[in-house]
Amino acid sequence: MKLAPGTEILIYPTAQDVADAAAVQLVQLGDNKQERQLKARVALAGGSTPKAMYKALRECTGQDAAALRRIRYFFGDERAVPNDHVDSNVRLAMEGFLAQLGVPAEQIYPPNGGAHLLSAEAMRLTMLLERTLPKAADGTPQFDMIILGMGPDGHTASLFPGTEALASDVKGYVSNEVPQLNTNRLTLTYPVLNAAKHLLLAVTGDNKATVIRDIFSRGDAPKVYPVEHLKATSITWMLDMSAAMLLPEELLRKIKPAG
Ligand code: 6PG
Repeated sequence: MKLAPGTEILIYPTAQDVADAAAVQLVQLGDNKQERQLKARVALAGGSTPKAMYKALRECTGQDAAALRRIRYFFGDERAVPNDHVDSNVRLAMEGFLAQLGVPAEQIYPPNGGAHLLSAEAMRLTMLLERTLPKAADGTPQFDMIILGMGPDGHTASLFPGTEALASDVKGYVSNEVPQLNTNRLTLTYPVLNAAKHLLLAVTGDNKATVIRDIFSRGDAPKVYPVEHLKATSITWMLDMSAAMLLPEELLRKIKPAG
């Protein structure tokens, strides 16, 4: 059982420990860029897992809060709702920690899920990335870090099984029709996800355990889940015990308990 080069798995006792550890990674990223007076570019995850991370972030003070205010915040995906809607990933982050920490509005790049034409909004966002991010060797806009979750069906961002966005070569965002949710979503595409300097997957809960087991027991068998097509050079999986509980023994022996 071998992990792909650049992939690490960290297992924590609880979902809160995962949230706290993910928050530390974000603060460290903001700190690291401080020396060079640059601002890190980060895309935030959606869904419910980030809630606990945002709680940890909004409690930051002093240097940690200053580090978080030195980051430019983007979003991995957004639902087809206005930014003030209860389901909005933008609202989740704004209310979760961005407002509390006083992150300047000019450092926040919210997708407009309430746009009349999501495909036009996806194009606007793609051009925004083109203008504001450095480029990877192949010209793809490159994030310093993209924080992602994973659904019980192995989706990540809004790259759901069987949906068109999985095959998109757009180097930015697309509007993705998700029949299983009877909705459209704005989502980053694989080219951008895989060009990121670092992907942080925060996956918690026993409803993710089967997919986690499948992913890390796959060997050379064909990949099944959208999340398996992530191949950035540096990927950290932060799992709680519930999500990790079905991992093969031989792999668990190699993973040092974190947290
Ligand atoms: C979204 C997310 C999505 C999420 C997973 C996991 O907008 O819902 O981007 O990809 O990360 O569905 O969701 P939970 O964290 O709620 O399990």
